[in-house]
Amino acid sequence: MDGSVQARAATATALVEDSLRGLRGTPKVLSPKWLYDPRGSALFEQITTLPEYYLTRSEAAILSAHADRLAGLVPEGGALVEFGSGASVKTRTLLDAGGHFGAYVPIDISEDFLQQTAQGLRAAYPGMQIAPVVADFSEAVTLPEGLADAPKVGFFPGSTIGNLPPETATALLAHARAWPGAQGFILGVDLVKDRGELVAAYDDSQGVTAQFIGNILQRLNSEAGADFELTQFAYRARWNAAAARIDMELVSTCHQSVALDGETIDFAPGEPIHVSASRKYTRESLSALVAPAGWQLAELLFDEAERFAMAVLSPG
Ligand SMILES: C[S@@+](CC[C@H](N)C(=O)[O-])C[C@H]1O[C@@H](n2cnc3c(N)ncnc32)[C@H](O)[C@@H]1O
Repeated sequence: MDGSVQARAATATALVEDSLRGLRGTPKVLSPKWLYDPRGSALFEQITTLPEYYLTRSEAAILSAHADRLAGLVPEGGALVEFGSGASVKTRTLLDAGGHFGAYVPIDISEDFLQQTAQGLRAAYPGMQIAPVVADFSEAVTLPEGLADAPKVGFFPGSTIGNLPPETATALLAHARAWPGAQGFILGVDLVKDRGELVAAYDDSQGVTAQFIGNILQRLNSEAGADFELTQFAYRARWNAAAARIDMELVSTCHQSVALDGETIDFAPGEPIHVSASRKYTRESLSALVAPAGWQLAELLFDEAERFAMAVLSPG
């Protein structure tokens, strides 16, 4: 077996083991990290253009308004290291302003999408080292050799930190704080706001988010030989005020049994699978999240409507 075949087999095994663990419990859960195969990554890019999904537009406006200053946080010849880089679309605003960057390190779990994106970036930024890392950022990520000691700034846009349980988010931030040469961290977070606006952003009228979340079952069918009947699961997005988060679930519409790797998973009518959460922050909850990781909230930058914020973190 060559390396990439081996890596894909390991991914399939982890997908099955992790999903079975989550589906055996009550309530049933699946990890959002499995949403991102090539189809999931493409669907997410479609979400970023939806009228209801204000997050991308708000964050892009903040990046454009403060591009020079944010890029200036990276010292001459230093590296910008991005978690969950996806298509790196908004990042280009920083790369355009970062002619002095030595390297850009996009980290993502969606391998094919990441490599394709890196190829486009190499053509667009020939003077910059583009060093993609395929990794799961819920575990410690090993940076490319040669950049281990370089001065670096972490970048985690897209409100993706809100998908992580607080302890995982703190561990990721602490890991970046402990990098040799850590200079700062730029973090994109969505803010607590009106329930209607939040729910609409995660339950769009064209049903793209429903397809994106449902893709996890399709992936289990195609990569793990499961037999989920997709039409028998309905998508639901709800605001959980107590936890300040949107919960995204797939709800079984009937009594049904699904086979996965030799096991049978039974569903009652109305029983949900929790697939993803998107946590929303206030200045206070954000400070409380970053402080235990050794970061200090140096500055919060907002878009005009104050829907979204970019936090500039300095070593605490
Ligand atoms: C919400 S999207 C954000 C994409 C992009 N940064 C943006 O702002 O539009 C989340 C990104 O994180 C990646 N991702 C999700 N879970 C991950 C994990 N555990 N490890 C590494 N990457 C992950 C996905 O593949 C996807 O590209």
